[in-house]
Amino acid sequence: MEFISKNVKETQKIAADLARKIIKTKNGTVVALEGELGAGKTVFVKGFVKTLGIKSKIKSPTFVLMKKYKVPHGNYLYHLDCYRIRDHKDLKIPEFKEIIHEPHNIVLIEWAERVKAIIPKKHITVHIDHISRNKRKIQISKSNRVPFPPTRLPKGSPRGRRESHSEQ
Ligand SMILES: Nc1ncnc2c1ncn2[C@@H]1O[C@H](COP(=O)(O)OP(=O)(O)O)[C@@H](O)[C@H]1O
Ligand SMILES: [Mg+2]
Repeated sequence: MEFISKNVKETQKIAADLARKIIKTKNGTVVALEGELGAGKTVFVKGFVKTLGIKSKIKSPTFVLMKKYKVPHGNYLYHLDCYRIRDHKDLKIPEFKEIIHEPHNIVLIEWAERVKAIIPKKHITVHIDHISRNKRKIQISKSNRVPFPPTRLPKGSPRGRRESHSEQ
């Protein structure tokens, strides 16, 4: 899906629509936000968070790069900004792998290109291009390179039973 946003409000509306769609599925997801500095990634995240009726963030001293929010009626939302890191090795959040793979979490990642190596195959990409002072092109796409991981059942396993359903 491709959108043209003419101002901050329009970008936040596009973000809000995506948030509502995700909430409807009752599952979490990873949203990888790409785009240069000033593209509008943080504006997008704010629009997304506001729509979910989140009032305040959960304070946690371990999370410097990352903010954690409780989504009403369920899951957690994490907002990670990788601007100050080079790659996932600089991410000093030991629990991050767990967080990103927990199917009920919503994880929004700015500068997602930098932590590409640890993004689950199944995720949503939001790519924002700066067109002019207030105009942005926003492309939202789903990635699901391996929709159903090939099941390799060990010999003797009952047919059809998955040994593992992990994403990676
Ligand atoms: N259509 C638009 N969508 C998003 N931001 C916009 C738009 N037009 C102007 N802006 C401005 O661009 C800047 C985007 O900043 P920010 O969201 O922090 O960028 P990023 O997080 O991608 O570095 C803000 O100052 C915002 O007011
Ligand atoms: Mg930002």
